Amino acid sequence: MYLRNAWYVAGWSKDFGQDLKPEKILGDNIVIFRKQDGSPVALEDACPHRKLPLSKGRRKRDAVECGYHGLTFDCSGMCVAAPTQPGKIPVRAMVRSYPIVDRYRLLWIWMGNPTLADPDTIFPIENFDNPDWGYTDGGVLDIDCNYLWIADNLLDPSHVAWVHLTSFAGAGTDDQPLEITRTDRGVIVSRWIYGQPPSPYYAGLVKFEGACDRLQHYEMCFPAIALNKSVYTPAGTGGPGAAPVDKTYVNISYNFMTPIDEDRSRYFWFQHRNTDPQDKAISEKMNAGARMAFEEDREVLVAVHEGMKHKQTPNIDLGLDAGAKLFRLHLQRLIDRETGAA
Ligand code: FES
Ligand SMILES: [Fe+2]
Repeated sequence: MYLRNAWYVAGWSKDFGQDLKPEKILGDNIVIFRKQDGSPVALEDACPHRKLPLSKGRRKRDAVECGYHGLTFDCSGMCVAAPTQPGKIPVRAMVRSYPIVDRYRLLWIWMGNPTLADPDTIFPIENFDNPDWGYTDGGVLDIDCNYLWIADNLLDPSHVAWVHLTSFAGAGTDDQPLEITRTDRGVIVSRWIYGQPPSPYYAGLVKFEGACDRLQHYEMCFPAIALNKSVYTPAGTGGPGAAPVDKTYVNISYNFMTPIDEDRSRYFWFQHRNTDPQDKAISEKMNAGARMAFEEDREVLVAVHEGMKHKQTPNIDLGLDAGAKLFRLHLQRLIDRETGAA
């Protein structure tokens, strides 16, 4: 079960053109394309006659013609032509249409009741237009696991000590106490680690020498967006509520999980930093490092999905799971409320 009245990332805007592109999102088969004016369209990818995917048909200006017997649908999903029986369009000939919007270089799709879709509720990316911030191109990975295993991972600052040895691991990432905060939009698991060298990934990026105070801020927002904030500040200047100083380095990794179905997820991300806005080389290095780390996560998460799905003995929880469990609990409440089960 998914939260449907929500915006999910359908893909990178640049990856969609006028071709009919089949996608599976939350288990729904959807065809996505752009109109002649460039605006995106998302329709149910199944002709109501014999359920041939419309993506196997062809574009006719802004309409889509089924490749089997020519039923033709406009961008709202209404049938506008039935060429085998002129003048007699069947009254039930229609497909579902999904609200879809370009924002932040991404395409966002609303998977629930279309009358509730408000683009103003798309997840806000702070500083997106701030010229002092630099961003990476980002990427996409398919991971053969349920999206909630990725959500757990993105509320778990400890796994870096074992999974990301060459990038995000560092003294204290294994055993320093974690703080859990429930917010309006989800859950934050965070901790400060004091007076340590930066982790390998950040060693060449922070703008000062010597020891750092480091914040690991792992935040999940309903239903499936994670914001992973790393702060490095000269030792002695960090801590809860401490104001940033001149040299404080901030990098935010935005992560968007879109369930394909119960067993597969599509994972999109980009990073946004408060330094070197125009430095392509830094962006490329950061992007390559992030992709490598996410590949490390993928290997673990696919095996966790399999292991948990087919477990032969009971599993246990650890203290580090508390944030993830809290997030799952509240997400399930939202889903129950939406489906009328609560
Ligand atoms: S299957 Fe589409 S018109 Fe027949
Ligand atoms: Fe990770």
